[in-house]
Amino acid sequence: MSALAIIGGTGVDQWEGLDVVREHPLDTPYGAPSRPVQEGRLGATTVFFLQRHGSPDAIPPHLINYRANLWALRSLGAERVVAVNTVGGISAEMRPGRLLIPDQLIDYTWGREHTVDDGGNGALQHIDFTEPYDRELRLALVDAAQRGRIPHEPSGVHGVTQGPRLETAAEVQRMARDGCDVVGMTGMPEASLARELGLAYACVCMVVNPAAGLGDLPLTLDMMRQILQQEAAVVRQLLAELITGP
Ligand code: HPA
Repeated sequence: MSALAIIGGTGVDQWEGLDVVREHPLDTPYGAPSRPVQEGRLGATTVFFLQRHGSPDAIPPHLINYRANLWALRSLGAERVVAVNTVGGISAEMRPGRLLIPDQLIDYTWGREHTVDDGGNGALQHIDFTEPYDRELRLALVDAAQRGRIPHEPSGVHGVTQGPRLETAAEVQRMARDGCDVVGMTGMPEASLARELGLAYACVCMVVNPAAGLGDLPLTLDMMRQILQQEAAVVRQLLAELITGP
């Protein structure tokens, strides 16, 4: 099976269970990725793991070098990328603790380095982004979740905001009217860069809080981290199921 890369988000610093065989301190035409890519095995499958926020210093969502991260993973031979993103829930089903495997996204980010097409190389790309996530990989994740009896939503819209601040209540209401089910800050331009680079890319969103204005408590990172640890364990189970296959 083709090599798989996992991009971990907030709270997923290591991929527990990954038998790390080496670390790759890489450079790319866009600079260094967030941190050296770990290569390991999950069962018989080669898996690369990259924490998009780096560590120990957390890189905020708008300053992540998404181009370098994806370029690095491709240069190591990864062909499939599963991104794990923490998000706030907007639609009623998207309560904290839920997993969403989105099939659509809306990009509200701005000012990020969002393409590897810098012009001048004669290779103008207008990638087809009608379906922003790789259909085969996305459906494989949904199948894996079903096989593993892992509660999840098999489709939905991932809204991606600029951050690093959280949204206002009115912004969340607008996103709800736009059709967003969840809101995060790191889904773009990761997804479109992956498409430009020919990587099959899909995403698992972990809902860690009700989006702004929808819950009773103030939004804090501590509250998000508590639920994150439980959800990360479920996502590990989901990816183990993906890798072992039917
Ligand atoms: N908004 C944006 N990004 C997030 C949120 C949120 O409510 N929760 C976790 N990441």
